[in-house]
Amino acid sequence: MSDPDTVPADPTPSRTPATPAPPAHARRIRLKIRRQDDPQGSARWEEFEVPVEPGANIISCLQWIATHPTTRDGETTTPVVFDACCLEEVCGACSMLINGTVRQSCSCLIDEYAPHDGDTIVLEPMSKFPLVRDLMVDRERLFHNLSRVQAWVPIDGTYHLGPGPADTPKHQRIRYKLSECMSCGCCLEACPQFNLEPAKGDWDHAFIGAHAISQAHLFNEHPTGGVLKDDRLDVLTQRGGVSDCGNAQNCVKACPKEIPLTESIAAVGRSTTVHSLKRFFSGRASD
Ligand code: SF4
Ligand code: SF4
Ligand code: FES
Repeated sequence: MSDPDTVPADPTPSRTPATPAPPAHARRIRLKIRRQDDPQGSARWEEFEVPVEPGANIISCLQWIATHPTTRDGETTTPVVFDACCLEEVCGACSMLINGTVRQSCSCLIDEYAPHDGDTIVLEPMSKFPLVRDLMVDRERLFHNLSRVQAWVPIDGTYHLGPGPADTPKHQRIRYKLSECMSCGCCLEACPQFNLEPAKGDWDHAFIGAHAISQAHLFNEHPTGGVLKDDRLDVLTQRGGVSDCGNAQNCVKACPKEIPLTESIAAVGRSTTVHSLKRFFSGRASD
């Protein structure tokens, strides 16, 4: 009879988790990926064969490649570098070109893009931002352009400010939709007026982009944020402002959050016209 106080020896030889092998029935798809080791390097294509389960997305395939960095030709390579954080289409980090169209890779389901065994999906980095490596780009200019229009409510300080101004639910609902922007850059990648500007010195004169125009509109409409409205409209009437928009409307089609960007652009366009007239006549009045 065994002693009840004796703990039986753990029969498991090792606690190091092995990478789970894909089930034998998993179908396989191909990922053709544009790769580049550094910003100055030359680009190349690599193809991978990846087993996929129902519900797999592009990020889960890239994670599988990270643990199996071997191309279809059997060459050992490096894991593919990409950006991602939330994995639920909230952070905006994972934008890339998938079969030539910009979108979030975390919400891109393999079952929709490659429904059959052996189907191929092509991945490339966004082209309107400087490349860091492989599928990862530097979106600093996107955030810089938000700072150009002071896309925030100026309430610095640790003291209690009391309740803000009252607002109507209808007005709040309009702003709520605009506030869903996740700074993903899809609207900029799709925009024919927004181009790669490698020199930072050119950023303040190049087209600011639909995201910044829409965020300026959001904060101009905010009961407290509106105190900076004139400063924002000053920027948006200058070179690179709202009049540089060619009205191609690619941005609104590309936005994963379905933000009504063209409505924001039209509203800001009207505001800048009124603003310019006010500036003109107030300048004349002070002559
Ligand atoms: S409507 Fe303006 S911001 Fe949108 S894609 Fe066209 S040019 Fe770019
Ligand atoms: S407006 Fe839409 S596409 Fe543009 S950065 Fe925001 S969420 Fe992305
Ligand atoms: S990982 Fe955050 S939006 Fe895709």
